[in-house]
Amino acid sequence: MKFSFAKPALPKAGTIVVTVLAERTLGRAARDLDQKTGGMLTRAMEASRFTGKKDETLAVLAPANLDAGRVLLLGLGKAEDVAPLTLQSAGGTVVATLARSGETEAHVFVEVPEGSAVKPAEAAAEMAFGGRLRSYRFDKYRTKDKKDAKPSLKKVCLLTEEAEAAKRAFGKLDKVADGVLFARDLVSEPANVIYPETLADKCRELTALGLEVEVFDQKKLRKIGMNALLGVAQGSAHEPRVVIMRWNGAPDAQDKRPVAFVGKGVTFDSGGISIKPAAGMEEMKWDMAGSAVVIGTMMALAGRKAKVNAVGVVGLVENMPSGTAQRPGDIVASLSGQTIEIVNTDAEGRLVLADCLWYTQDVYKPKLMVDLATLTGAIIIALGHEHAGLFANDDALADALAGAGKAVGEPLWRMPLADAYDKDINTDAADMKNTGGSRGAGSITAAQFLKRFVNDVPWAHLDIAGMAWSKKDTSTVPKGGTAFGVRLLDRFVADFHEG
Ligand code: BES
Ligand code: MN
Ligand code: ZN
Repeated sequence: MKFSFAKPALPKAGTIVVTVLAERTLGRAARDLDQKTGGMLTRAMEASRFTGKKDETLAVLAPANLDAGRVLLLGLGKAEDVAPLTLQSAGGTVVATLARSGETEAHVFVEVPEGSAVKPAEAAAEMAFGGRLRSYRFDKYRTKDKKDAKPSLKKVCLLTEEAEAAKRAFGKLDKVADGVLFARDLVSEPANVIYPETLADKCRELTALGLEVEVFDQKKLRKIGMNALLGVAQGSAHEPRVVIMRWNGAPDAQDKRPVAFVGKGVTFDSGGISIKPAAGMEEMKWDMAGSAVVIGTMMALAGRKAKVNAVGVVGLVENMPSGTAQRPGDIVASLSGQTIEIVNTDAEGRLVLADCLWYTQDVYKPKLMVDLATLTGAIIIALGHEHAGLFANDDALADALAGAGKAVGEPLWRMPLADAYDKDINTDAADMKNTGGSRGAGSITAAQFLKRFVNDVPWAHLDIAGMAWSKKDTSTVPKGGTAFGVRLLDRFVADFHEG
């Protein structure tokens, strides 16, 4: 789908989209069209329950005296609530409403309420961003789709007097959307297509954007001593990989220490010898979502040439049961030197992250580290599918991340870390075991485990198990892989670590 910007003019074909504020308050463009059509818009509203609530729509087909095939009334809600997220949502709603309507092009008259803090150019850019995010589809394996199941909408043109400025503002957002869509593709691909080697190949593609990409194979990982990660991978026919992606965009005057993002990339989590039940196991193809988000974020930062130094590290393994698989009771020596008794091979993500976190802080001396992982089912019990869990050893970092999440509509909820939970992973046989002794607080004991591999650096852990995949559409995120975290980390960098 193509998004473009132009000065307002009545189109010769397609759908005209006009905005309506709460209580049927027509915008200027809507009022003009209402007049031209002899009051069709007003009559249509009166014949329906449409009042202009946020993301409410009403289509008026074959409007009189216009070349356009329809007019779509688009609710923005109350004037004082119109903000960047509202406009993204509105853009997404336009795309969702028209995608399979038979319509091929939409022309959106972008208007912001009098006195709004959002400028018209920004409003148009945000609408295009939301539209592009919503236009995502993963249908490459559907060979028998009927023609009428495919999207008809091909072009969305945002109309504003500030078309040039809007285009410029959209430029950066478009790069963020590139990262989001790339990450969604990675999450959506099945595990017979995306496994450590092929996911590393996907990372290599990013060198085209100016990222430095380094791939460690099994031999190299052995040499480094990432034994916790290697233990998870040893049951699989696929070799593990660790990929380091670097973006060096910080100007000379700025702190050169990188921000570091670390992702769990379990390309399939069967549970290993502690095998998972059959029902729902197919979902574990997206147990690499943390790594996809790190990859997508690095793509966004490089794409928009962010003024920051950033390093992305992803640990890529497949967790399988086999004759060579790790056993419950095995003890491994992690890269940090600390030994781990594996009591449950299904608690594998923390083993992968333990070595990646240690390596990252040791080699890159980052100013902060944020890891992302579909780490625990327990975080879904705690927070459902509305917030990701946020754990941090640093309040300022936690607040910055939560603030960025709120700004982009990817909310985080802070969870505690405390010594009392830490005791739960002590064991007689080794320095620690990989799961807690009780059934309680599973997400927190997992975070406590990670904390043992982090030294003084400010660090946050985002447990995105409940957010990586969605079973229902929202206005900017179609169901499926969400790439939750890419927009958040991009905003976090933009607001706190550039300039
Ligand atoms: N990848 C899973 C966590 C998960 C579960 C993500 C459901 C998304 C949906 C993780 O590797 C895992 O298996 N965790 C175990 C930990 C347990 C064995 C301590 C869990 O949550 O059950
Ligand atoms: Mn697992
Ligand atoms: Zn897992």
